Amino acid sequence: MENLIQDIDILAGKQTEEACDMKVTEEENTGKTRKLYIESYGCQMNFSDSEIVTSVMKKDGFDTTSDFTQADVIFLNTCSIREKAELTVRKRLKHFNALKADRPELTIGVLGCMAERLKSKLLEEEKIVDLVAGPDAYRDLPNLVTKVDDGEKAVNTFLSREETYADISPVRLDSNGVTAFISIMRGCDNMCSFCVVPFTRGRERSRDPHSIVAEAQDLFDRGFREVTLLGQNVDSYKWSPNSDLKGKAQIERSDEENIVDFAGLLEMVAKVDPDLRIRFSTSHPKDITDEVLHTMKRYDNICKYIHLPVQSGNSRVLKLMNRTYDREWYLNRVDAIRRILGQECGISSDMIAGFCTETDEEHHDTLTLMDIVKYDFSYMFFYSERPGTLAAKKYLDDIPLDVKKRRLNEIIDKQRQHSLERNQLDLNKVHRVLVEGTSRRSDEQLQGRNSANKVIVFDKKHYKKGDYVDVLVTDCTAATLIGEAVG
Ligand code: SAH
Ligand code: SF4
Ligand code: F3S
Repeated sequence: MENLIQDIDILAGKQTEEACDMKVTEEENTGKTRKLYIESYGCQMNFSDSEIVTSVMKKDGFDTTSDFTQADVIFLNTCSIREKAELTVRKRLKHFNALKADRPELTIGVLGCMAERLKSKLLEEEKIVDLVAGPDAYRDLPNLVTKVDDGEKAVNTFLSREETYADISPVRLDSNGVTAFISIMRGCDNMCSFCVVPFTRGRERSRDPHSIVAEAQDLFDRGFREVTLLGQNVDSYKWSPNSDLKGKAQIERSDEENIVDFAGLLEMVAKVDPDLRIRFSTSHPKDITDEVLHTMKRYDNICKYIHLPVQSGNSRVLKLMNRTYDREWYLNRVDAIRRILGQECGISSDMIAGFCTETDEEHHDTLTLMDIVKYDFSYMFFYSERPGTLAAKKYLDDIPLDVKKRRLNEIIDKQRQHSLERNQLDLNKVHRVLVEGTSRRSDEQLQGRNSANKVIVFDKKHYKKGDYVDVLVTDCTAATLIGEAVG
């Protein structure tokens, strides 16, 4: 999930531990007295949350700014997924704190996963922030800011079993006006042993499907043409009329006929309009059902692309990771995708190199699994131990950094080769592209994606952002397809 920011380098499979996505608020001046600047790190869910935060703060009398020197309040919406992510945030916090020498009235707040993980530590022990708010505490932000103004302690890291922010209309940030993200659930009930997310985001809960459909409809009416449904494990989406009151675990038998599962939700959103494309992320290999695949097949506007993180190709390592599937199960799911949706369906993955006790042979199993699946692209990392996780408690982080890095590089090299091979299969075919904007390389070219989530660049002619264009692909790199519009 950290991964949805599409970038040509990432598509080439170059993303490693060094990559870092960051977004900031845009300038919006409606004459309000105070200005807010938010810098967001981590996954798409975090970026989505910043849109909720902006909405809450605007109602409380704030304008946004893209220039932190103009801000009265600076929020960092943070990520804890790997050590590197937290180090980046700490550096930024130091930088912002230096501004206080000249402007003591400046308020600095830390939001998101690092706020949840460290709770009041950043405020009380390290004294580098004024305000701490976890992912379920954003409705409380105006109150927390007032507390800071009054010289009081401002910390809220309460994790909720119900909060989905369903009624808050996000203020779209960094928007191309064509594609948008919709959070459909929060939290995660899986306990992958390497992962900090269940601790920072709390228990899984699903959002009312009617509010999701209404958000999709509203986006469509405003000219958007693609929505991506977001959750850490979208396949376990489950909502009943009573689940808002009682939480997922307590759905009763009497509710069963009214339960909406992920396949049902996909169908509801697909029916908003045939011209609205639907994507989703992330799918968990243990939960993705044939029913979801059949629903994807039934609707042309549900994109034929699945992000299905494998993490490792070796069953013993998968067991240690507590992923609850093995190599065979995973390959069986890939077979189902190919059987139901065909070769064109895009498949991508996340991979972790050098997990605790992984041998060279076991690492080799990841490479051979990649040879079988042939991912279109992948997000690739080396293992970074996170305090408090099951792996940190139970296993030794015993693979030396140079070995982790060597294994990661082997994975990256293989992925690059597969990305190119998969792109070559698209040559001389016509692809329907939703135009997202001008290409990064030239104003004379447009860029968009096909159903399988591949970036396609072509000459502008009379086409514009938001158009669907049929493009004949004539050339490619490992990262990009290049083509020409054919009417
Ligand atoms: N919910 C998603 C993943 C969310 S985190 C899923 O289950 O697939 C995004 C990715 O970060 C993970 O898929 C994993 O590959 C990577 N990741 C998570 N914890 C990590 C750690 N401790 N070290 C290295 N990579 C990690
Ligand atoms: Fe983390 Fe696993 Fe949940 Fe994904 S499914 S967020 S990797 S615990
Ligand atoms: Fe996302 Fe990072 Fe939190 S990946 S859920 S912001 S730990």
